[in-house]
Amino acid sequence: MTGAANTGDHASPPVNPKTRSRRIVHLSDLHAGSQYFVPNLLNRALVEINDLAPDLVVVTGDLTNMGYRQEYREAKEYLDKLDCERLLVVPGNHDSRNVGYVHFESLFAQRDSVVRFGGMTVVGIDSSEPDLDNGRIGRHRYPWIRDALMEHPEDFKIFTLHHHLLPIPGTGRERNVVHDAGDVLEILVNCGVDLVLSGHKHVPYAWRLEDMFIVNTGTVSTLRLRGNTKPCYNVVDIEGERVRVTRNYPFRGGEVIVEFDAAASSYVRHDFQLDRMAGDA
Ligand SMILES: [Fe+2]
Ligand SMILES: [Fe+2]
Repeated sequence: MTGAANTGDHASPPVNPKTRSRRIVHLSDLHAGSQYFVPNLLNRALVEINDLAPDLVVVTGDLTNMGYRQEYREAKEYLDKLDCERLLVVPGNHDSRNVGYVHFESLFAQRDSVVRFGGMTVVGIDSSEPDLDNGRIGRHRYPWIRDALMEHPEDFKIFTLHHHLLPIPGTGRERNVVHDAGDVLEILVNCGVDLVLSGHKHVPYAWRLEDMFIVNTGTVSTLRLRGNTKPCYNVVDIEGERVRVTRNYPFRGGEVIVEFDAAASSYVRHDFQLDRMAGDA
């Protein structure tokens, strides 16, 4: 835990969430410094994202490969190209190697943070542990999560973290689900979270649990790929309570993967999931 909730633009005038359309771009797993990092992919994705003019960009960790300062600086140079007024970044397991969280805090922000705009609350939390690949939230942080999510109970609520809360098909042996995923999922459902955004596995997927969608994106800029997956990022368009998630591939366009109505509990999951048959992790 790195401090109290930073709740963004509290002072902004009230917005009717039923009429306002908002766009979030979600990217993950840049892995600057990795031998598999492809600058062209990230440069192209950033150009595409700027053309999409999102209200918020969410980056769910693994900015770096080993948590080194020069890798952080490289990742920041790329992300500084974003022309977006709101950026929410959380660290991944690779970022917490070699005490990399020190650089995260000095170059980016708090490891746990809240952004609020347009009738939406977006909570980001650090699920990493130093020098370990698994994820963990920890009981002592549950009150902070509840408070952050329930400060504006009528908001559309998004929770973001690096690690996946449910296993992802096509990723081989499961090792890295958040250790206390069950408790965290229960909190999120009880708080009425509409959408969870994660990365880590480099395999995009979407689950529905109760009335909550859990959407993973792949790696945006590396060839650390499982099976036939491709580098990608997600675009989340929210109009009132209606949500459409599109998966975009740098240079290659995109496809709608899931549409749902948070108020009516209806959804359409397009036949997108298994464009890969993965090998072992
Ligand atoms: Fe990663
Ligand atoms: Fe990761």
